[in-house]
Amino acid sequence: MTADPDPADVRQPVRVLVFGASLRADSLNTRLAALVGRLATGAGADVDLALMSEFAMPVYDGDAETDTGLPPGALALRERIASCDAFVIASPEYNASMPGVLKNAVDWVSRVRPQPFKDKHALLVSASPSMVGGNRGLWALRVPLEHLGTRVYPDMFSLAKAHEGFTPDGDLTDAGLQGRLADTVAAFLRLVEADTRYVCLQRRWYEFLGDRTDALVTERAEG
Ligand code: FNR
Repeated sequence: MTADPDPADVRQPVRVLVFGASLRADSLNTRLAALVGRLATGAGADVDLALMSEFAMPVYDGDAETDTGLPPGALALRERIASCDAFVIASPEYNASMPGVLKNAVDWVSRVRPQPFKDKHALLVSASPSMVGGNRGLWALRVPLEHLGTRVYPDMFSLAKAHEGFTPDGDLTDAGLQGRLADTVAAFLRLVEADTRYVCLQRRWYEFLGDRTDALVTERAEG
C-alpha cells in the first residue's frame, strides 16, 4: 500500500496569463495567443487566455489618475497579471515597435502599488505578415517590462508571413516551427516552475525606483 503524498510534495500547475495584444477582430496575434495557450495547457500549465479588448482604458493622463484613479480596464488587467505566475504576450509590431495600446496598458498598470510586473516571468511572441514576423516590436517591448522588473525569457518567437502561417485548426502550417514554438513554451514553463515553486532567485534587483510600498526595500523585490 502506498502512502498518500504529502500535500507539500504535490506539484501545483504553473498559472500563466496568455495575452493577445491586438484589438483587431481577425488578429493574427490573437490566433498565436490561442495556439500558445493550447501548447501551455498541453505542457501542464493552468492557462488564462485574455484579449486586449477586455481591458479598455483611456490614454494615460496624470491628471485623470489624480482625479479618478486607475480606470477599471487597467485594474482588471492588473488583477489578471497578479493572479498568475507568468504571462505571455502575443503582440503585433507597429512601425518597428510595440502598438501604442499595449504601451499605454503597461503604463497604466505600472501605476498600481505594489507594482505587479516586478515578480513575474514573461515570454514574448509575435505574428506579422512581414518577413520579420514582428520581432523588432518584441525587442521594444522588453525595455519597459525589464525596467519594471519582469524576467523576460531570452528566447522569443516571431511568426513571419503569418497571414498564411496557420492551418484552419489554428496550428502552424510549418510543422518544424510548431515544434520550435512548443519547445520554447515548455522550456519557459519549466523555468517559471523552477523559480516560483523552488525559488531560484531569492533576491531580484532591478532599476524601478517608483515602488515604495515596502518600507525597507525600494529598489528590489524579494522572492
Ligand atoms: C503595421 N504592420 C507592421 N508589420 C510589421 O511586421 N512591421 C511593422 O513595422 C509594421 N508596422 C505597422 C504599423 C501600423 C500602424 C499597422 C496598422 C500595421 C502590419 C501588422 O503587422 C499587421 O497589420 C498585423 O496583422 C497586425 O497584427 P494583428 O492585428 O493581425 O494581430
